[in-house]
Amino acid sequence: MTSEAAKIKKIVICTGGGDAPGLNAVIRAATLAALNRNWEVYGIRDGYNGLLMPEQYLEGGLLRLTRDRVRGITHLGGTIIGTTNRGNPLRFPVKKLDGTVEEVDRTDELLRAFLLHQIDALISVGGDGSMEIAHALAKKGLWVVGVPKTIDNDLDGTVITFGFDTAVSFATECLDRLHTTAASHQRVLVVEVMGRYAGWIALESGVSGSADVILIPEIPYDIKKVAQKIRERDELGRNFSIVMVAEGAKPLGGDVSVVSREVGRAERLGGAGERVAHDLQEQTGKETRLVVLGHLLRGGTPTTFDRLIAQRFGAAAVRALEQDQRGVMVALDPPTVKYIPLEEATQRMKTVPLDCDIMLTARDLGTSFGD
Ligand code: F6P
Repeated sequence: MTSEAAKIKKIVICTGGGDAPGLNAVIRAATLAALNRNWEVYGIRDGYNGLLMPEQYLEGGLLRLTRDRVRGITHLGGTIIGTTNRGNPLRFPVKKLDGTVEEVDRTDELLRAFLLHQIDALISVGGDGSMEIAHALAKKGLWVVGVPKTIDNDLDGTVITFGFDTAVSFATECLDRLHTTAASHQRVLVVEVMGRYAGWIALESGVSGSADVILIPEIPYDIKKVAQKIRERDELGRNFSIVMVAEGAKPLGGDVSVVSREVGRAERLGGAGERVAHDLQEQTGKETRLVVLGHLLRGGTPTTFDRLIAQRFGAAAVRALEQDQRGVMVALDPPTVKYIPLEEATQRMKTVPLDCDIMLTARDLGTSFGD
């Protein structure tokens, strides 16, 4: 243990952004690893809200994490300390007297709260938004270690984020179920999955679940080409088709389908599947049904893979603190974990490389990407 780490008495864990299966496994692993070093551990409630708006919590904005509190949670979805994808402290939405909303930087306030509670270090578990906040706090002097979470798998610098495998496994199981009903009714089944501006969930579950068409944000699609693929299948006697659509998929020359835009939060995507289903029914005349998997992908029991990497990440975050590592994110670099600067992790979004092996595999199998 380094001299700085020897001074650690109290750390906090924050879970931010959309929840993902494996968050509780990280919380338990980090808590046990810290308690075993005789550090006190607290969870900030609902992202940073527990520190920025403590008055909203009857029992206070910090939840003491004890062995009892983290017992039996590894397999549970969600997060026992809560999360939010609103109220980013870098761009906190504040309503002005004239009714308009403006974004305010509340990180200094947050730093004061860390001082007030005598918190030595923060483990921030989240996606790109959370890592951006963690990086900003680290630049202002806070001792921070990040842990990469998101079902979208769009964080750069780590081979994978936890939560992704569970989401892909569930989507694949759904495709298996949809195949039989699609075949029985000779229908086109359009399945929309989350993933924001990256096509990882659609691609990996689409290939694993034998989708005939996979539409991802990285490749703007031509609906005529998709319709053509469905007609070709019909001619071969395969008179049903499964079309996997990433929520960020967009037509050639068109834009992503957005449900809402609000100050202080990322735009909400939705409607991509509906657009494809509508256009395909028009183009092919075939009966078409839409299934939007949405938040189902974020719930449920984490897979063994996610439980394991989540625990490895949680324990590695504590080891990073013990080694006096600051402003870094834990990353998976098989067969081990490594630490990369938060700056590196936040530089760009990890999208699907069009020449990657999974893409080549799908193309070799005849899967259409609508291009
Ligand atoms: O980033 C995770 C994610 O589930 C995305 O795939 C999706 O676009 C977004 O969060 C949905 O957010 P919300 O929980 O606000 O609906």
